[in-house]
Amino acid sequence: MPRRLYIHTVGCQMNVLDSELVVAELLRAGYELVDNPRQADAILFNTCSVRQHAEDKIYSALGRLKHVKDRQPQKIIGVLGCMAQKDGQKIFRRAPHVDLVIGPGQLGRLPALLEQIAAGGGPRMAVGLDRTSGVGWPGSSGHRREALVDEPPESRGSGGSLRSTPATRPGFGDFGICAGSIINHQSSIINHPRRRADARPAPHQAMVRIMFGCDKFCTYCVVPAVRGPEQSRPAVEIEAEVRCLAEQGCLEVTLLGQTVNSYRDQSSSRTLRLADLLYRLHDVAGLRRLKFVTNHPRHMTRELLGAVRDLPKVSPYLHVPAQSGSNRILGRMKRGYTDEQYREMLAEIRSTIPAAAVTSDFIVGFPGETDEDYRQTVELVRIGRFKNCFIFKYSPRPKTKAAELYEDDVPDGLKRQRNNELLAIQNAISLEDNQPFVGRRVEVLVEGPSKVGRKQALDNDAVQLVGRTVCDQIVVFDGPRSLAGRILPVEVQRADAVTLFGTLP
Ligand code: SAH
Ligand code: SF4
Ligand code: F3S
Repeated sequence: MPRRLYIHTVGCQMNVLDSELVVAELLRAGYELVDNPRQADAILFNTCSVRQHAEDKIYSALGRLKHVKDRQPQKIIGVLGCMAQKDGQKIFRRAPHVDLVIGPGQLGRLPALLEQIAAGGGPRMAVGLDRTSGVGWPGSSGHRREALVDEPPESRGSGGSLRSTPATRPGFGDFGICAGSIINHQSSIINHPRRRADARPAPHQAMVRIMFGCDKFCTYCVVPAVRGPEQSRPAVEIEAEVRCLAEQGCLEVTLLGQTVNSYRDQSSSRTLRLADLLYRLHDVAGLRRLKFVTNHPRHMTRELLGAVRDLPKVSPYLHVPAQSGSNRILGRMKRGYTDEQYREMLAEIRSTIPAAAVTSDFIVGFPGETDEDYRQTVELVRIGRFKNCFIFKYSPRPKTKAAELYEDDVPDGLKRQRNNELLAIQNAISLEDNQPFVGRRVEVLVEGPSKVGRKQALDNDAVQLVGRTVCDQIVVFDGPRSLAGRILPVEVQRADAVTLFGTLP
């Protein structure tokens, strides 16, 4: 049985959580996590398909492992996640030295499949049905397929799978077992040592999935195809998981869903929405902060904003991607709202929760985006005064409507130019909006040593620490490592566009 495991994760927080849960499960099965793929018996990539670039990087990494596999054929190489689901057999064709391809809905089978491969059973593939065409991925005689269909919804719940990890793990203290989140489910690279040493990077913070999949089918997006239909977990199950985490000392929970604010639990007589869930979770003793990502503008209801305003533990931090400021492009994207409706929603957020930090995503260079369309996006970024924005160059994805219907006609150079310009506009806004914090005290949940702090000597009394405010602002300051997991005031001395620099009072 393979013992040493290396995992490389790309993509969104869903993938980060999936990797955490996979690692927790494998640690329980006797595996040990290593920092270096060379030391590993099993090398796993948890992949993302949202843009071509994310896939290209994984295929290159796989290519580089070919000679490793030639020399050490017993090493297991596995591809997990969204690209596994999307490309299936194609991965074996492009990288024949891969042993395992497993989609996000099949991750519960990972330990068994690894065992089978280690026992000489040959390569394995486990992916769900292809949602876009309604037929399974093409089979191949050489590779045993473990699953053609998605698991039934029941098995997408907690399923009795254990969330956390044995107390014996180094650096994890006694944060023991917790029934809760599943691993058999459904994309910044988490390659820093603490993430690899511990399934959960910090015992005082956790992500909790409240829904799976997405039904929005924005025309550019691969997520509905690779993550399956939207399904909400029952509130009772989520509450039990959050209680368990809080009992273990977790202070901050981030609720995850592709469109988290369309949460709808219909398992009891009354339909529960995200606002109802927040009220329930707010009562969990020990819990100090509750966040939720990612919101869809169409589901940003008054009730939800009221809950964020009225519940002190709920962070006034709202990630609500706009994608474009042009109605013509929003229509082509099938986002379901207009620029005016997005602006009304923003105004509603600002009037209900004046201190809210709103962040957004934008895609530049969507097919047919003219200078005028782009100018309207610039205008939205200027008037939106977002805390920050993620800006992406459009990347055509196979089997999406946009790739089928529209030619990718904005030249890459122009996409890059628009991307850089929009980033510069947003950075100037972020810089300006961070200045009023200078001289103020902010309350910070200390995450631990910063990148700089991690390189500082272990016997230093004070290292550079990093923490976050309720509005998700990054704060760095010097202090002892023992402050990790504490909620403290920090005096801000200086600010740039992304970071507040402070000192302990
Ligand atoms: N569910 C979230 C995020 C999905 S993916 C939402 O609906 O907002 C994260 C971001 O990637 C998206 O918000 C979008 O800005 C970007 N994205 C998705 N597909 C893309 C594509 N084909 N090309 C470029 N960016 C894309
Ligand atoms: Fe993709 Fe749209 Fe669903 Fe977000 S809402 S995951 S962008 S299809
Ligand atoms: Fe990527 Fe899959 Fe997340 S495609 S963005 S890892 S849901």
